[in-house]
Amino acid sequence: MLPADSPEMTLRPASEADTGRLLEWRNDPDARTASRNIAEVGAAEHTAWLAAVLADPNRQLLIGELDDKPVGQVRFDRLGENRYEISVALAPAVRGQGLSSSLIALAVEKLHESSPGAKVEAHVREGNDRSLAAFRRAGFQPSDTEMDGFQVLMA
Ligand SMILES: CC(C)(COP(=O)(O)OP(=O)(O)OC[C@H]1O[C@@H](n2cnc3c(N)ncnc32)[C@H](O)[C@@H]1OP(=O)(O)O)[C@@H](O)C(=O)NCCC(=O)NCCS
Repeated sequence: MLPADSPEMTLRPASEADTGRLLEWRNDPDARTASRNIAEVGAAEHTAWLAAVLADPNRQLLIGELDDKPVGQVRFDRLGENRYEISVALAPAVRGQGLSSSLIALAVEKLHESSPGAKVEAHVREGNDRSLAAFRRAGFQPSDTEMDGFQVLMA
């Protein structure tokens, strides 16, 4: 795993105060296309989803900040004994600047502080080349597993 190469990038746990920005990032067209559920999410559904995520000990939702400005989110969903799925999204305004691999690498480092040796997998929709490149640059390796149009990468 690469060290995070952006000293300004920091991570903090998400809270209910992030409701608006998380919904905005989730409903962005590129983020919807990348998701398993491509439908636009409504405010009430999103609020209930966020409350459930924040209350779930098997999920960790983190906000990446650059100079204290929220720029993206990373989520870990526990799949089993020391196994997690990672998902990531950047605010549309900061995409294409090479920030994603720093955010991913920093989040995995943080996960490993609480769960040493944890295996992490990313499920990336075929054709989402930016996401595939971002995970590979953050040290993920493509596996042979492909599920319903999603490629699995492992770290
Ligand atoms: C996926 C995402 C996090 C990537 O972040 P990003 O800032 O756009 O990507 P980066 O600038 O870090 O670039 C990542 C790589 O993709 C490449 N890239 C950028 N735009 C690209 C494009 N349109 N097509 C193919 N590759 C592209 C970059 O050159 C870079 O490659 P490199 O590692 O070889 O230099 C971001 O686009 C995003 O939030 N997308 C919507 C949600 C999403 O798709 N999440 C992933 C779900 S698995």
